[in-house]
Amino acid sequence: MKTLILFSTRDGQTREIAAYLASELKEQGIYADVVNLNRTQEIAWQEYDRVVIGASIRYGHFHPAVDRFVKKHAAMLNDLPSAFYSVNLVARKAEKRTPQTNSYTRKFLLSSPWHPMVSAVFAGALRYPRYRWYDRFMIRLIMKMTGGETDTRKEVVYTDWSQVASFAHQIAHLTRDSRL
Ligand SMILES: Cc1cc2nc3c(=O)[nH]c(=O)nc-3n(C[C@H](O)[C@H](O)[C@H](O)COP(=O)(O)O)c2cc1C
Repeated sequence: MKTLILFSTRDGQTREIAAYLASELKEQGIYADVVNLNRTQEIAWQEYDRVVIGASIRYGHFHPAVDRFVKKHAAMLNDLPSAFYSVNLVARKAEKRTPQTNSYTRKFLLSSPWHPMVSAVFAGALRYPRYRWYDRFMIRLIMKMTGGETDTRKEVVYTDWSQVASFAHQIAHLTRDSRL
């Protein structure tokens, strides 16, 4: 049996975190398939004993495909030991990096028909040179308002990889009884 790690990304950071989780799990003898949620067709659920979904925020929202996927597969997701992580830049501030204090994550979990056993919030990446001019302008504005990096020549990765490793450890220890 394997772990299924589904990710929804726009610029790649959520995929990098998914790959990191997979390599950490492998060290614990757990094999994972890392799959782009936006490109899934049919899923061979019978091959998996654990599922993880990771999704990033853009302009205040997860990709609509995440909600669609969760609604469609809620029964299967609730049946398996499962984990959720979100990726955003608000989370570069430690006090906004928990499922309770990160508003995107809190709202998602409150309204979701899927109830993951464990959740995490990771700080994402700021990659000004890769953005189109409008996005670069908007992100810079938000960064200016929130006291963040405003130098548009910079690429900054805020992800705390040791936090990702701890989350992998939590995922490795999930069992069907974890909800009890
Ligand atoms: C156009 C754009 C809009 C964004 N909007 C938000 C936002 O509303 N709130 C936030 O916390 N982070 C926001 N971010 C930051 C992303 O969540 C962050 O860059 C993350 O690493 C993206 O993950 P991904 O590469 O997997 O898509 C935005 C980034 C971009 C490029």
